[in-house]
Amino acid sequence: MSFANWYNRTLNKIWGFVEDRTSMRKWALRPQPEFTFKPSYWTGAFVVNAFLYQVVSGMLLLLYYQPSTNTTLTACGQPIGTQSVAPAAWCSTYYIVHSVPMGELLLTSHLYGAYAMIFLMFVHFYRGYYVGVYKAPREFSWMVGTLLLIVTLGMGFTGYLLPYTQISYNATNVGLVLALRLPTFGPLLGPLILADGTSQGLLSRMFDAHVLLLPLALGALLYAHIALFESHGIAPQATSDPLQRRRFTEKEDKQSVPFMPHIFWYITKWGLLYVGLLLGIAALWPWTLPTYVGNLAAAGVVTEPDWYFLWLFKFVDFVGVTPVLAIGITTVLIVYVLFLPFLDRSKRTHPRDRPLFIWLATSLLGFFILMTVWGGETPGVQIPLVQVAYTLGPVFAVNLLVTGLFYWRYRRNYLRRLAEKEASIGGIYPVPSVAVGPQPAVGVKGVE
Ligand code: HEM
Repeated sequence: MSFANWYNRTLNKIWGFVEDRTSMRKWALRPQPEFTFKPSYWTGAFVVNAFLYQVVSGMLLLLYYQPSTNTTLTACGQPIGTQSVAPAAWCSTYYIVHSVPMGELLLTSHLYGAYAMIFLMFVHFYRGYYVGVYKAPREFSWMVGTLLLIVTLGMGFTGYLLPYTQISYNATNVGLVLALRLPTFGPLLGPLILADGTSQGLLSRMFDAHVLLLPLALGALLYAHIALFESHGIAPQATSDPLQRRRFTEKEDKQSVPFMPHIFWYITKWGLLYVGLLLGIAALWPWTLPTYVGNLAAAGVVTEPDWYFLWLFKFVDFVGVTPVLAIGITTVLIVYVLFLPFLDRSKRTHPRDRPLFIWLATSLLGFFILMTVWGGETPGVQIPLVQVAYTLGPVFAVNLLVTGLFYWRYRRNYLRRLAEKEASIGGIYPVPSVAVGPQPAVGVKGVE
């Protein structure tokens, strides 16, 4: 027996034993159809990979980080006996970057890893939106996903203050002014976030949220998210067929590719590529620590959040947009995403059948990208409303035109192909027997 054969047989034996004794096939790590072996079907798994890297690198950072505003706690890399002028939180970050072996790589990769996780999460979100994965029976998966999105952004927000730099301190204060304006939740959140109203109180609460409360919430939500995913199975391809089945049967599952070793190695391969790329980029472009809170020379530091909140910061720069209005509109957006499965009621999942929702998604994507670039180019610069209309109006108008044209063109073609197909086999759509008898998993062949 060759080594490869022996290796595969042993692995299968061990995995078979684990699967049998845990009844795993009933509750987790389902087999998946062959056609899902494309990165687009595994965007959520990429976010999980990114999250795992954050947990590991975050735990290593915890070994050195001190969540304190006290200036006498540490010498901040200066000779022993010298009094530091910088807060311990900043000093310990400085120490990680300059004195801990590989510390700079560790901290930079944790920071870039957060960017990557947020970016991948938006890719996962938009992919799901466009192919209509939120439709029945996956409404709750979508809603739990929306909560994951909020908690992940919360992780970014709370982590930003921890190095205790002047720029992060300023931006956190602006963010807090906005968050505390949230209807109902704002006044409740106030005492929780601000603690006793001192800088130390705020830093401690941000630290607790970043390393304990939010990761626990994220872990619990992720568990629910994946459990729901396992119970429904992966969503079939988007289709215009309203009679499509949205789940694979147990029989189909048995013909699918098993989790072990195929899916496991598939995801591990992407995970290793991710870590390699992240470390490579972090090594090539290490992060530089900005100056600390309270440095008098930093009086002119601009107030700028990380890139994923730039759009919101730019929004409050618009003349007439008050924090209450900005946070009100953000709340409406969140509610829209949360309840999207109940707003888009049509049974068809293909983008060509959902022009209004596709227009909204694409316009919002354009809006976020433009606002992010704008926020990065001109942070804190007030923008008159006429300029806002000139800049943002075309995003919505051009998208309306493009989506409308696509809808018109594809819908016409689709209806023509459907009519041809119907004529050739004497009527297939909609036929009651298709609804009750065995159906194709992803719509009627040839008219998907
Ligand atoms: C921390 C953030 C998130 C993580 C770690 C995560 C993870 C996952 C994983 C592992 C899957 C299984 C399939 C796959 O790999 O794509 C999945 C599926 C899914 N996720 Fe997420 N997700 C996150 C955020 C979101 C968000 C923001 C939404 C939408 C609001 C969402 C909606 C969904 C839905 C509807 C499915 C089922 C898709 C299907 O069956 O093809 N997720 N997610």
